[in-house]
Amino acid sequence: MVTVRLALAGVGNVGRGFLELLRDKSALVRDSYGLDLQMVAAADRSGVVAEAAGLDPVELLALKQSGQGVAAYPGGQAGLSAQEMLGLVEADVLLEATLTDLKTGQPGLDLMRAAFERGLHVVSANKGPIVLAYRDLLARAGTAGRDLRFSAAVCGALPTVNIGQRDLVACRIEKIEGIFNSTTNYILGAMTTGAEFETALTEAQRVGVAEADPSLDIEGWDTANKLVILANSVLGYPAQLDEVEVIGIQAITPGALQAASAANRVIKLLALALRRPDGTYRLRVAPTPLPLDHPLARTRGWEMGIVYTTDIMGVQTASVDERGPVPTGAAMLRDVISIYRQRG
Ligand SMILES: NC(=O)c1ccc[n+]([C@@H]2O[C@H](COP(=O)([O-])OP(=O)(O)OC[C@H]3O[C@@H](n4cnc5c(N)ncnc54)[C@H](OP(=O)(O)O)[C@@H]3O)[C@@H](O)[C@H]2O)c1
Repeated sequence: MVTVRLALAGVGNVGRGFLELLRDKSALVRDSYGLDLQMVAAADRSGVVAEAAGLDPVELLALKQSGQGVAAYPGGQAGLSAQEMLGLVEADVLLEATLTDLKTGQPGLDLMRAAFERGLHVVSANKGPIVLAYRDLLARAGTAGRDLRFSAAVCGALPTVNIGQRDLVACRIEKIEGIFNSTTNYILGAMTTGAEFETALTEAQRVGVAEADPSLDIEGWDTANKLVILANSVLGYPAQLDEVEVIGIQAITPGALQAASAANRVIKLLALALRRPDGTYRLRVAPTPLPLDHPLARTRGWEMGIVYTTDIMGVQTASVDERGPVPTGAAMLRDVISIYRQRG
């Protein structure tokens, strides 16, 4: 049995989803993978709590559900930062689930760097640092002899990164197509049946999937971020966000969607990476009419999907219907387990 000491930064929707899995799946992880997962530290905006003997995920969940921060946990310390958390207790893996900031990558970026300096592996749901500093982080992980995993950052549980990095061995990837944002997919679906944009958006917010500020989703930037991560990590193409052509769904009308339907097409907010003859990729995010027999045309409502077109492994499609943050927490658990399985 290997003990894996976890330090969690960010105890919001995703962090709490991970804690629920720690509560519900720890016995299975012990029995099936020989890993004893111990949460030894947690940080949110209230401060930090660290305990080498392990924190109780149920107690942490109860605290957060009652509206309190982790500093209120017995022994918790108000006002300390997530980086300071790393100095309070020995840990093996940093779980990064703080907010995505696409201008600075902070606080996640410096936290990940500090984790590698201290010899921790990093598992991130946070896109910001991966979009802005993938190569830098990978180099630091290499220097430290540690792993950087971020399968949760690109569509949560949908194995977009894993299929591309692990399974498409020796392939040349000609094309990636993806529906990477369930909020916009839901809105477009509702508008196809006649709803106005604002009504569809309000409904998406009511069921708790759209952000309170949904502009990153609607304007296509959330999808573009995920495409940049795949370009860097799967295609080996060092893309930056500013080279992605991005058109959101804000100008789409119910009339345009219904006209597409009448022509046996369905409009989706499609992410596209298309290989050029020189080996670079054209990167685009835009509302795109798909024929009804396209694998992603069937991706409805809250679903997301990806299609890899390869030279030697055919055309591979994966899709997911995932609701709420638990599948993203599950993707972080997948990353933790796969680090230790890979290392034997
Ligand atoms: N929600 C999803 O389904 C989903 C899916 C894939 C990826 N992601 C990514 O996962 C990450 C977390 O998402 P979420 O939905 O859980 O967000 P969230 O509910 O807003 O939670 C964010 C957490 O980060 C904490 N935090 C913010 N600034 C911090 C700081 N400076 N130091 C320490 N903690 C800080 C917050 O503390 P307080 O609790 O004190 O406010 C909160 O616990 C984001 O990067 C998001 O893009 C989310």
